[in-house]
Amino acid sequence: MEKRRRSRSPGRKGGAGKKAVHEVPRPGDKSSLTGQPYSKRFFEILEKRAKLPCWALREEAVRMVAESQSSVLIGETGSGKTTQVPQFLLEAGYASGGKAIAVTQPRRVAAMSVASRVAQEMDVELGQEVGYLIRFEDVTSDKTVLKYMTDGMLLRECMSDPMMSNYSVVVLDEAHERTLSTDILFGLLKEVLVKRSDLRCLVMSATLEAEKFQEYWDSAPLLRVPGRMFSVETFFSLKPQKDYVETAVETCSLIHVNEGPGDILLFLCGEEEIETACAQLEHEFGERGDLMVLPLYSSLPMQQQRRVFPPAPEGKRKVIVATNIAETSLTIDGIVYVVDPGFFKQSVYNPRTHVESLLVSPISKASAMQRAGRAGRTRPGKCFRLYTKDAFETELPESTHPEILRSNLSSVVITLKKLGVEDLVHFDFMEPPSPESMMRALEMLHFLGAVDDECELTEIGTHMAEFPVDPHLSRSLIAAGCRGCIEETLAIIAMLSVPPPFQRPRWNPKAADKAHRVFASGLGDHLSLLGTFCRFGSAESQKDFCQEHYLSERSMKQAENIARQLRGICQKRGLTRKAAAPDGGSLTLAVRKSLVEGFFMQTAYIESGGKHYITVRDQQAVNIHPASFLQHKPEWVLYNETVVTDRCYMRNVTAVAPEMLIEAAPRWFHPDTCKFAEQARKSLERALPRVKK
Ligand code: CDP
Ligand code: MG
Repeated sequence: MEKRRRSRSPGRKGGAGKKAVHEVPRPGDKSSLTGQPYSKRFFEILEKRAKLPCWALREEAVRMVAESQSSVLIGETGSGKTTQVPQFLLEAGYASGGKAIAVTQPRRVAAMSVASRVAQEMDVELGQEVGYLIRFEDVTSDKTVLKYMTDGMLLRECMSDPMMSNYSVVVLDEAHERTLSTDILFGLLKEVLVKRSDLRCLVMSATLEAEKFQEYWDSAPLLRVPGRMFSVETFFSLKPQKDYVETAVETCSLIHVNEGPGDILLFLCGEEEIETACAQLEHEFGERGDLMVLPLYSSLPMQQQRRVFPPAPEGKRKVIVATNIAETSLTIDGIVYVVDPGFFKQSVYNPRTHVESLLVSPISKASAMQRAGRAGRTRPGKCFRLYTKDAFETELPESTHPEILRSNLSSVVITLKKLGVEDLVHFDFMEPPSPESMMRALEMLHFLGAVDDECELTEIGTHMAEFPVDPHLSRSLIAAGCRGCIEETLAIIAMLSVPPPFQRPRWNPKAADKAHRVFASGLGDHLSLLGTFCRFGSAESQKDFCQEHYLSERSMKQAENIARQLRGICQKRGLTRKAAAPDGGSLTLAVRKSLVEGFFMQTAYIESGGKHYITVRDQQAVNIHPASFLQHKPEWVLYNETVVTDRCYMRNVTAVAPEMLIEAAPRWFHPDTCKFAEQARKSLERALPRVKK
């Protein structure tokens, strides 16, 4: 056990010429990775790194990993878990023999930002020795030895490499977030560890669920990094708040005017709220020039995200308005005041109604403690909770519900199947999902033809699992392969996978609407998205095109990027453009038919009064979203998703013909057997003779 000995060796004497982990580079030393002398900045950062709580425990951490296949490390946010510990492992020689160290992050932003920071700390170029991998973006190279990646991407890699043979250590970071992918990785890693005695797994987490992780990992050793927290004085609201965004902005203003120096961190739920609050604060203090208002959310461009880290100039105060991401994933130094309205956005899936919604939900007590903790990292701070003490005690759950217990499991099931997990019911989940939601997911995959009667993956299912998109979308893409419209369908999927590109500025919504109208297809949103994508692709100046048409250039570029990657997967799987529109119809017809094959369960018919639609799956009343390009009300529509606001809306809607439905899913839509309302049944009956046999 070379590694173990090395980590114990007493400084420069030990390890026969090999570097001990606690050997700190000195000016003039050359980087063993690049062979170049370290820069001045390297030593400046090194000084700061050496003060982080994790630094003092670097030998213990390395030793723990060497001595036990799986171990757990717990430490306060900001103690250096994510940025430092993987570097210690690297220095201890773990990334040798062509293997790398993987560090998973639940959030894309965190993976990017942390990788960028660590590349700086190590004096290397991002994407070389240190890189990141997130969905649709691979910033790594052959040289990469330290790879920050989203947990979802590691899961994806496991599909083609179930033994995780590229890695010597897998660090599952931010484990307390209990994302779907991390929870599945837990189970998979446990199995791989048995088969690969050289592999190491380190679970890192911020909160106090240590015992739970330890127990799951068969009494793995635990290292607690002692915090270096200052006291945080907490204030509660005296009465419940009606509009928490407004109250939050007021609270920030009061802090800025009345309190001593120190930056403010305000937690809100998502881009819209954050931009509103930022605009108000700018409006109020913009002229004084002593407040820097900085938003932070995941769809913000990387450069803007980076602006939150450097300290404010002398005499100025930063106020950072962030989503949950600032709770534990990203550490911003200098925060002294925290404003916590007590909400976050989480996606909740209801397996009975099949509706997945992003809901503003109360945070947990554990989250509230974490948020408050952000105020006391560098000196004593204050936390202003915009809810009452009573609400804290009685309404907030103890900890956040793991994602696996509130998700649509169809992607999970197809992934596990592809990973060769035979027995889904006995898979070692830390918290197993309900058998009902598993069954629902299998049922849906069966309808899509992804699994057979024995619940084994079919050929279609095997193809589908390769695409990092929802099973409905991958099914449509495979259908498109047979209909000569793969290029068009992958463009649509790419457009559906990015934040909506259609901008509607508050100061000029009418002009934006008018500009968007040129993209409208009478058949609905999917084809309108395709039109937008194509016109953007052939525009002379994409920048001007976006400006003229009120489009987000970033979303459009991202869509192009995603289309490129999907195209790559199609080519790899041998799904390429065959003869154009083989069934003699138009291309748009072929596209719609392909979509129906993936989405026939997400269709609806107009009820007899013509007011709203009824979904075929659960007979729910729904409406076409007001932002839809579909301006008339066709008899049958398919939709990408439903969203619940004041009413239940279908978003991204396309008109379909009843014969397409019968053709795609004869058992669902046969007029003799379907359970739809009379006029829907009649419509299918009329269409029946038109269906091609
Ligand atoms: O993972 P953990 O919350 O324990 O801490 P970390 O993300 O490793 O951050 C450790 C320290 O690195 C922070 O306190 C910051 O001082 C610094 N850091 C930074 O300056 N810029 C970043 N993008 C990330 C971290
Ligand atoms: Mg971290």
